[in-house]
Amino acid sequence: MTTLEPSMSATPDELLASLFTDPDVRADPYPVYRRLREVAPVHRSEVLPLWVVTTFDGCGAVLRDPRFGKSDEAQRIFGSADDAAEREVPIISRHSMLRANPPDHTRLRGLVAREFTPRRVAEMRPAIEVMVDEIIDGLAAGGGGDVMDVLAFPLPVRVIGELLGIPASDRDQFRTLVRDAAAALEPMTSRDVVMRAERASEVMNAYFRELIAARRSHPSTDLISALIGLRDDDDRLSEDELVATIVLLFAAGFETTTNLVGNGLAALLAHPEEMERLRAEPALMPNAVEEMLRFESSVQLDARTALVDADVGGIGVSAGEVVLTLLGAANRDPARYPEPDRFDVARTGHQHLAFAAGIHFCLGAPLARLEGEVVFERLLCRFSQIEADGVWRWRPSLTLRGLESLEVVVS
Ligand code: HEM
Repeated sequence: MTTLEPSMSATPDELLASLFTDPDVRADPYPVYRRLREVAPVHRSEVLPLWVVTTFDGCGAVLRDPRFGKSDEAQRIFGSADDAAEREVPIISRHSMLRANPPDHTRLRGLVAREFTPRRVAEMRPAIEVMVDEIIDGLAAGGGGDVMDVLAFPLPVRVIGELLGIPASDRDQFRTLVRDAAAALEPMTSRDVVMRAERASEVMNAYFRELIAARRSHPSTDLISALIGLRDDDDRLSEDELVATIVLLFAAGFETTTNLVGNGLAALLAHPEEMERLRAEPALMPNAVEEMLRFESSVQLDARTALVDADVGGIGVSAGEVVLTLLGAANRDPARYPEPDRFDVARTGHQHLAFAAGIHFCLGAPLARLEGEVVFERLLCRFSQIEADGVWRWRPSLTLRGLESLEVVVS
């Protein structure tokens, strides 16, 4: 990919506008991140009602600071450009932990964490290995194919489907629904996109309400049944919170993990020497997955609102103001990572921000890491050659960074 360097005279707001609107910049946002970090690491936009932070320390500090939290204000930034002021995007329900502040956040996350445990995740390894091997068999039989289509999309939906207990025959419909809904996570989207996202969210909510009703009458060992138990037996979760939690677990772990697989493989294909190194030293795998998460983070952008007057890096932010933390920029901050634009499967001391930080740190991180490890272990073990077939295309999105397609030939 040719790197598009931003004009030296571009103002921070022009750089920001290019990130929000220019598909070429979104395809390779790193030069703009770099320039923004150099000229205005903590920037108060003069055009939009928000702050933007591009440094590792700055983003980490905001995400960990209890003076910053979730609010409808931040949600609106992700609304429609046409009527951002009044629209509420329902993709992430206000009853979910992702949009909650303490004490509700503490209660919701604590309840879910009791059931969605590292042990439950670890127990999924053999099942995930079988799923990955089945998919890889198909890839081998065809001598290759579009990895996004055959592996990166179907795998997470199968894994979360298994975890939550979603019948296999129902899972296919979610590909379009989750994608439509997730489009509303982009800043300044069009009204059409927001409307489509609303419809998709309504369909998913209705689906999960029905599934909850079915599990209530016929409980099983899946996570949905366990969460229903918390609601019905302990009454520490409202019905709306139960639905929101299940939809969140489903949606949060879907496209993000798809993009870990696609972005990770793209990084290996672009750095064949690193792919060989990983093949030769499989013990590096957990480290390599962290480097994939850092280097091409699936979630590039997160947001918080100042709940009281606060400061970022010594600069005052007023209560109610929204701060965008550009995680993808933070993860390439040279002050934190030497040679940040180098993909190095043996890089150590990650502690990247790909899963955010603080109280909202990704609850599904152990599952995402497990899926990443199994995918790349099995791919490298099965194929001695994996090569890109043609050029790959990035989706024109900023919040969720991922590929449209990734054709490979394998042998
Ligand atoms: C590579 C894959 C993944 C990435 C990059 C990722 C990234 C993130 C990020 C950045 C956040 C913080 C959002 C915020 O601060 O507003 C988050 C939260 C969350 N993630 Fe993930 N995620 C991934 C996979 C998963 C999976 C597989 C699941 C579950 C099945 C999951 C469930 C959640 C939940 C429940 C939260 C909300 C936590 C809270 O608000 O306390 N994620 N994730």
